Amino acid sequence: MTHRMLHPLLINAHTKEPYLQLPGRLHNIIITPPRMSDAAPLISVLNDPAVCNWLEAPPYPYLPEHADWWLTNEVKKADEMMRRLMDTETLELDGPLPVVDGCPVSHLREIQEDGTDTFLGAISFRRCCFQGEEPELRSRLQKENDERLVGDPQIIWCIGDYVASSHHGRGIMSAAVSTLLTEWGVPRMGIRRMRVETAAGNVGSVRVFQKNGFVLEKLVETERIKTNYSEETYGTNILWWEHKE
Ligand SMILES: CC(C)(COP(=O)(O)OP(=O)(O)OC[C@H]1O[C@@H](n2cnc3c(N)ncnc32)[C@H](O)[C@@H]1OP(=O)(O)O)[C@@H](O)C(=O)NCCC(=O)NCCS
Repeated sequence: MTHRMLHPLLINAHTKEPYLQLPGRLHNIIITPPRMSDAAPLISVLNDPAVCNWLEAPPYPYLPEHADWWLTNEVKKADEMMRRLMDTETLELDGPLPVVDGCPVSHLREIQEDGTDTFLGAISFRRCCFQGEEPELRSRLQKENDERLVGDPQIIWCIGDYVASSHHGRGIMSAAVSTLLTEWGVPRMGIRRMRVETAAGNVGSVRVFQKNGFVLEKLVETERIKTNYSEETYGTNILWWEHKE
């Protein structure tokens, strides 16, 4: 089942959720909206050193209250996005689909043989915050980027992503980045430029982006608060992507 305003998202007849499916041998992996019931697996994934050591934003240890706060916000955002997309006022029978400033699907799940699914990780777009630039330049770039109107091709976007370590190295994130970007980011959010940041040494993450056409610009020295250990000085890889018509 599908709905024109949600194109190319499909609707799961059972859960009524929109979803995207990864292609080929990864067809049992879907991207859906977040659910409050993701709390337990989310806590487990975000306390796993193979994941959280590479992520700057989530607190460590990642506690039930963190998951509750995060999921409440994310579920609300996804619901609002769906409501806006389905708003009858904006429904047109033909004509171009409107460009929107977000994506209702962000949580990766593996469909099991009995039809249930398991939370695997997340992927989302956000406006770039120019990590690695000098503070003054960074805040100016960030302000300009945040002020750009929805659909402006000059907006610089960023990706946040992670997958459970039980599923690392199976091609899941490479396919998820490709699918979300080509199916939703480019056509429905008008994404034309991206700047992503990954910690020095995060070979897997750099590779995922390079496989999707991102080009490594530089490695910058940055002060990072490692989520679960002490404060250390790290480098950050900066990679860029430009949409090719
Ligand atoms: C980074 C991460 C998202 C990659 O996801 P993934 O699904 O395991 O990646 P893929 O399986 O698509 O791998 C893509 C490529 O990277 C390589 N790769 C993946 N992990 C690697 C690692 N730890 N070391 C070296 N290469 C690695 C794969 O071999 C593959 O390359 P190939 O196709 O040339 O063989 C995942 O490892 C993760 O969640 N890490 C912790 C959180 C994180 O770093 N998030 C990104 C923050 S910027």
